[in-house]
Amino acid sequence: MSAPPPPVVELREVRLSFEEKHVLDGVSLEVEPLDRLVIMGQSGSGKSTILRLILGILRPQSGSIFFKQFEISRLNRRKLQQVRAQIGMVYQYSALLSSRNVRDNVALPLEELTTKSRQEIDRIVDEKLALVGMVDAKDAAPSELSGGMRKRVSLARALVMDPELILFDEPSAGLDPVISSVIDELIISLTETSKVTSVIVTHEMDSAFRIATKMAMLYQGKVIEAGTPEEMKRSEDPVVVQFLSGSTEGPILEGSKDAIATK
Ligand SMILES: Nc1ncnc2c1ncn2[C@@H]1O[C@H](COP(=O)(O)OP(=O)(O)O)[C@@H](O)[C@H]1O
Ligand SMILES: [Mg+2]
Repeated sequence: MSAPPPPVVELREVRLSFEEKHVLDGVSLEVEPLDRLVIMGQSGSGKSTILRLILGILRPQSGSIFFKQFEISRLNRRKLQQVRAQIGMVYQYSALLSSRNVRDNVALPLEELTTKSRQEIDRIVDEKLALVGMVDAKDAAPSELSGGMRKRVSLARALVMDPELILFDEPSAGLDPVISSVIDELIISLTETSKVTSVIVTHEMDSAFRIATKMAMLYQGKVIEAGTPEEMKRSEDPVVVQFLSGSTEGPILEGSKDAIATK
């Protein structure tokens, strides 16, 4: 038997508070190569915070975060920049620059992080725009695009550096149900054809079950359940049961995200 491959991402007992509020209270997670890990949780539960920690934008108060062999929370600025270039990020509302057209938005990471020629950059931009079905919109301004099209462009931008890991923050936020299913399918096909590992955070269950190969449920600062989608469906944890069913009956209360505010 050969040893299992090392995880692409690992969080060990990560703790992070903002002022008095313990947002993450000992979070541990592992993401194996080629997995699409969906982190589920209520609004305000700390999902985006986890992505920011993986990117090294935030540092934990304690615990550690690894991307492959790199301990993200210990890298110096320079090394962090290099490592971050191997991680693609798709922001919640796409975060395209309104002053730049589609081509220039997608080219941005290549212009900032590489010394590639204009010609080479154009080739890569075309290739990635083709993968998301947006080649014809190259000259369009972000304001001319629908939400679904902007999301496609932000996916292409996340792919230009050929990352080993892509992070998605609420990929279906602001999209209608049909478009959000289309984007989910695109996330699945892109991560499979590009052989990239991904972490997706969402509070939308349909989307979560479509995309996930693995799932983790974040609640009150901790991962209270993790496993395959099938294992999550079989969970007897009352929080997981309530969250998956969207029921009003159960331990999750409105405002409960504030319940851990003071300790
Ligand atoms: N930079 C910050 N300063 C203070 N509080 C923050 C900051 N970032 C996030 N928070 C708080 O941390 C909690 C988790 O935020 P976030 O990770 O954005 O939640 P989610 O993405 O699950 O909706 C929220 O209560 C939020 O208000
Ligand atoms: Mg968020």
